Amino acid sequence: MKLGCCYYPEHWAEDIWAEDAMRMAEMGLTLVRIGEFAWSRIEPEPGRYDWGWLDRAIDTLAQAGLQVILGTPTATPPKWLVDTMPDMVAIDEQGRPRGFGSRRHYCFSHPGYRAECARIVAALAERYGQHPAIVMWQTDNEYGCHDTVLSFSDAAAAAFRVWLEARYGTAEALNAAWGNVFWSMEYRSFSEVDPPNLTVAEANPAHWLDYRRFASDQVVSFNLAQAAILRSAAPGKDITHNFMGFFTEFDHHDLGRDIDVAMWDSYPLGFLEQFWFSVDEKRAYLRQGHPDIAAFHHDLYRGCSKGRWGVMEQQPGPVNWARFNPAPLPGMVALWTLEAAAHGAELTSYFRWRQAPFAQEQMHAGLLRPDRTDAEAVNEVRAAANVLADIGAQATAQAKVALVFSYDAAWVCSIQPQGQSFRYLELVFEWYSALRTRGLDVDIVAPEADLTGYQLVLIPSLPILPEGIVEKVASLTCPVLLGPRSGSKTSNFSIPDGLAPGDLKSVIALTVTRVESLRDGVSEPGDGWLVTRWREDVQSHFVPEFADAAKRGVVYASGTVRYCAIWPDRALLRLLIELMAGETDLLLLDLPEGIRVRNSASHSFTFNYTNDAVFVPHIGKTLVSANWHIAPRDC
Ligand code: GAL
Repeated sequence: MKLGCCYYPEHWAEDIWAEDAMRMAEMGLTLVRIGEFAWSRIEPEPGRYDWGWLDRAIDTLAQAGLQVILGTPTATPPKWLVDTMPDMVAIDEQGRPRGFGSRRHYCFSHPGYRAECARIVAALAERYGQHPAIVMWQTDNEYGCHDTVLSFSDAAAAAFRVWLEARYGTAEALNAAWGNVFWSMEYRSFSEVDPPNLTVAEANPAHWLDYRRFASDQVVSFNLAQAAILRSAAPGKDITHNFMGFFTEFDHHDLGRDIDVAMWDSYPLGFLEQFWFSVDEKRAYLRQGHPDIAAFHHDLYRGCSKGRWGVMEQQPGPVNWARFNPAPLPGMVALWTLEAAAHGAELTSYFRWRQAPFAQEQMHAGLLRPDRTDAEAVNEVRAAANVLADIGAQATAQAKVALVFSYDAAWVCSIQPQGQSFRYLELVFEWYSALRTRGLDVDIVAPEADLTGYQLVLIPSLPILPEGIVEKVASLTCPVLLGPRSGSKTSNFSIPDGLAPGDLKSVIALTVTRVESLRDGVSEPGDGWLVTRWREDVQSHFVPEFADAAKRGVVYASGTVRYCAIWPDRALLRLLIELMAGETDLLLLDLPEGIRVRNSASHSFTFNYTNDAVFVPHIGKTLVSANWHIAPRDC
């Protein structure tokens, strides 16, 4: 795995660039990402390009032996451009235009903005496509950041109508698919259809789902347009995009098909603070991040682009954007770095080289402080670089467990939660965490993925069954666990004929006759576990494998397939994993709280995410806080 950083030469006086480059190389960094927000400096006025500074910046880095990832600057259209076509900005759900003065102020559907993007990307690619120092291109930056996938602009509405017509052919077919007879919502033509915002009561969930699918497709085609230009002008160079954490607004599996390397931006402390974690977890892992946050995304994004992936932005110290922004424990930056290597990353790049003294992110740590002195993380980068040099490149082996992840499922559950704590991402994360606490390596895969070769397949929830999934599940000989709501909707967001789980009935004969959601804090007892959040009434000739204290069935089994009809808590997940592991030759570990392991093809890594020294039985050693143990596999 290579190490790198995100660098903004345009933020600094030119006379310190050479020193920066020299220090980067001396620290063990080899890759530097630049340029992704620099449009106003690349093209200060319409059609007047200023390449001089960028030429010199790239050359300065190259002279220090560094390789460059060049970003296309389309996340930050300059003021003059917005002024030439003010309607290029996204319109939010409340119908308000999003303003200039930060970033991502554009609508993915605006044809004029798309043309401008094609122009600037082509200009960059023509100038630098063959540059030997540039080894990779990054398209845009964090598609969807700051809530920007959905736009309700005229451009989006027009593109949506075209998308609908391609999907349904006629307005009658659309009406039938969505069930528009309900509340007299029928349309006579596609031109009558608007985006689903600003309706009086909730819009039709089928309307929302298609809008989410459409918006996702717009992101994918926006990216593909850039990728196509880069592929022709910079043949042989890799293309990447940096995905975000806990973010499902567009289908990353779709977009991943058009890039070579899926990168993501890893801010474990910010994510712990901003997402659903309990107050206890936020306290326990304040300076580490929950032990599965980074790993979950490593495994998710490894499954998004043919296996090549990396970390484009790694938190090196306190960030500026969470509610509270603690500093990492000493050792954590090195631990996060090595953990990425353990999961098969090809890059960990720190965000950012030097903390900016000005503008929005002036409180965001870098590897260097604003005064150019080394910040705390620098020694950890050096330590990680030394370990990486010792252990060499880490190849990934197929894990024994597959966890199926579906963006469509995330959209269905967010459009129609039916209980506000039914959060798809959280469900999948809990299932992932349950596997990881037993020492299992996991591949998080798309529903379309090949599931052969796994010893255990978990599908936490799949409301809409994609083509072929039922046959695929039927053909598996390993244990399969299906979670609640699976098969509960048709592709048009209706309840299937014969009720849930729809076509899955052919692999497990049961019918979900009713669902209910439970408010937070309410639970019903099982045998050492609890029913919380969600439960389904099931009719089946099978005797339930697990029932609660009131004898209501909770888990049903048919051959190797199980269906879990509740939101399982940790205790029940643990029992289920033990049961299924016992049916294969999966070896489970009993890891102490906060300890995680990960096996690459050649090495076994153990990480201590706790604040304490912990004795780890399977390695027979005590690991101090925020430390790791790496051994060749099978030793
Ligand atoms: C990322 C973004 C970076 C920077 C960083 C701060 O989301 O890609 O440009 O803003 O967050 O943590």
